[in-house]
Amino acid sequence: MAEHTTSIKHVASPLARQTLLDGALTSPIAGKRPVRLLPWLQVVKIGGRSIMDRGAEAILPVVDELRRLLPEHRLLILTGAGIRARHIYSVGLDLGLPVGSLAPLAASEAGQNGHILASLLAPEGVSYVEHPTVANQLAIHLTSARAVVGSAFPPYHHHEFPTSRIPTHRADTGAFLLADALGAAGLTIVEDVDGVYTADPKAPGGEKAQLLRETSAADLAKLKGSLPFDHALVEVMANARQLEHVQVVNGLAPGRITAALRGEHVGTIIHTGARPA
Ligand SMILES: Nc1ncnc2c1ncn2[C@@H]1O[C@H](COP(=O)(O)OP(=O)(O)OP(=O)(O)O)[C@@H](O)[C@H]1O
Ligand SMILES: [Mg+2]
Repeated sequence: MAEHTTSIKHVASPLARQTLLDGALTSPIAGKRPVRLLPWLQVVKIGGRSIMDRGAEAILPVVDELRRLLPEHRLLILTGAGIRARHIYSVGLDLGLPVGSLAPLAASEAGQNGHILASLLAPEGVSYVEHPTVANQLAIHLTSARAVVGSAFPPYHHHEFPTSRIPTHRADTGAFLLADALGAAGLTIVEDVDGVYTADPKAPGGEKAQLLRETSAADLAKLKGSLPFDHALVEVMANARQLEHVQVVNGLAPGRITAALRGEHVGTIIHTGARPA
């Protein structure tokens, strides 16, 4: 793109004279689908509260299932935060700490859970990697090991939005942002329920809640009440570029993670806003 006129070097760029604030002007250049960086990667988000907090009884069968999946898939295993983050939120809120100070405190528990999973999978060559490694060196790590473990929390930290006192971008949002940015083959969100219900199945009156076998980010945006993942994820999914769907599965039911990674419908499939290529 460089042009030479006498000795002055001009760099021609279609965005050079453009404001970046007008979507109509930037979309001919910026509207294209990005490349898939790791199209063979399967991302698995393991719930902090739903799986890790239950201890050996829940963790060991999940670890066995992940271990058996290694010959079949290359995995980025991401862990959420659980009970210790809830406690640190309540202490921090009591002390009046801003949301941007609470985010890294909670994220540190997601990292602790990741270290636990990585230790259990270490005999298989799996290790815990920090955010900068996930961002820059994932390909080389996954060339020498079938899986790595990282924290699912996104590093918003002190850049967390001040809309709420509890960080809005938590583990589910972080896992999705990574999977979409990497152009991964899939994202499986592992919970302790069979999928997304019309209401919390464990709350009072929850026996009336119905399992949604298939839904969309747009429909979930209209659903009043709680979800088994961050509300921020609904908006992020609506704007996805690569991942056309995610599946929420029950990690306490043996074989569901394996089936989901093989493309079987065993939980709730959520269609995102990404259009087929
Ligand atoms: N609409 C819903 N459908 C299914 N489960 C729901 C719904 N609303 C709330 N839940 C509850 O969400 C719980 C899972 O909690 P949560 O998502 O906080 O755990 P987690 O994913 O392990 O946490 P983390 O995101 O910190 O890793 C389920 O056990 C269920 O009781
Ligand atoms: Mg969850």
